[in-house]
Amino acid sequence: MNELKHIAIIMDGNGRWAKKRGFSKRIKGHEEGAKRVREITIFASNYGVKFLTLYAFSTENWKRPKYEIDFLMKLMDIYLKNELKLFLENEVRFQTIGDISKLPKNLQDRIFYTKEKTSHFKGLTQVLAINYGSRDEIIRAFHKAKKSGVDLTQENMNDFLDTAGMPDVDMLIRTGGEQRLSNFLLWQSAYSELFFTKTLWPDFTVDELKQMIEKFNKIERRFGGVKNE
Ligand code: IPE
Ligand code: IPE
Ligand code: MG
Repeated sequence: MNELKHIAIIMDGNGRWAKKRGFSKRIKGHEEGAKRVREITIFASNYGVKFLTLYAFSTENWKRPKYEIDFLMKLMDIYLKNELKLFLENEVRFQTIGDISKLPKNLQDRIFYTKEKTSHFKGLTQVLAINYGSRDEIIRAFHKAKKSGVDLTQENMNDFLDTAGMPDVDMLIRTGGEQRLSNFLLWQSAYSELFFTKTLWPDFTVDELKQMIEKFNKIERRFGGVKNE
């Protein structure tokens, strides 16, 4: 068994899922995808994972049509409003990474409120990556360190990233069939085990996640060392 503290997921394939089902709009897939977040969060919490980081909106996603962006912003607001009950019942702490200052004011308020209400929980932390991009995060980290007069090292770098206080990613999962990172957690995934599945995010199940964890547990993680004889 490998220690599994941090799972990160690139939840991709919502648009294709909607198309496949004959919906005229991609946004139907986002709506369905939000339901999977709930199931995966409950499982991760019960399994004893400490951090579940979910890529919800990237710094590059602003290139999408305005109606899709507006829908995603609204969906995140509704999601958080509905999920507060789940967070409180399951003692899940809520956090975000990414530059939330660029989000609509009502969503920013909802984020602050949800963080505040759940900040005392010690079990799973669900981290939503919103307006998140690794390159943006790393540049912001440089500026933060410079401002505080700190020389960056491999050891203190994480203190200046949005993931300050979080362990490195153990498992990085991408649904939807593409095998790329799309600017997600580049620093934090240096030694992650990577899992790619063709399953579109709205079709992803707890069972498939369990199978991935079984595979993860069989991997010998060497971190550049040698096999234990
Ligand atoms: C991922 O699904 C969700 C977001 C990027 C917000 P997509 O919307 O990228 O779905 P596909 O990849 O086009 O199918
Ligand atoms: C990555 O998916 C971002 C999120 C899942 C939020 P994209 O669909 O935006 O990534 P690309 O464009 O295929 O690289
Ligand atoms: Mg996509």
